[in-house]
Amino acid sequence: MTQLRWTDDCEVGISQVDRDHRYLLQMINRIIVLAESGRMKHMDAWQARLNEYAASHFMREELLMETVIPEWPERAAHIKEHRNYWIWLARLDMNSDPQMMVEFLRSWWMKHILGQDKAMGQALQARGLH
Ligand SMILES: [Fe+2]
Ligand SMILES: [Fe+2]
Repeated sequence: MTQLRWTDDCEVGISQVDRDHRYLLQMINRIIVLAESGRMKHMDAWQARLNEYAASHFMREELLMETVIPEWPERAAHIKEHRNYWIWLARLDMNSDPQMMVEFLRSWWMKHILGQDKAMGQALQARGLH
């Protein structure tokens, strides 16, 4: 399975958020490699690390939105998408198919970064944040 590639298109223009995203993509790529090589114990360990990091990343974004753009109309939908991530993840965890898991991670993160996170980045930049 192809790994995720960081391109300029992935930049949301907020340095802290972009740093987080780069690291998240690295973690997902590691999980892809482990899933391909069938190293399930290692994959589970990295999955746990990803969960921890994703939770803190969501908190950082939500705090930024709350403090800088509290009136932004897309804020509630964005937070809901973060919440739904855990619901999807829990469902996938139950049927424990590593291929399905990595496919979900790839598609959810790319879609979220290129969609909601970029929109959030624009709203934050409009307030002078970089
Ligand atoms: Fe994000
Ligand atoms: Fe987000």
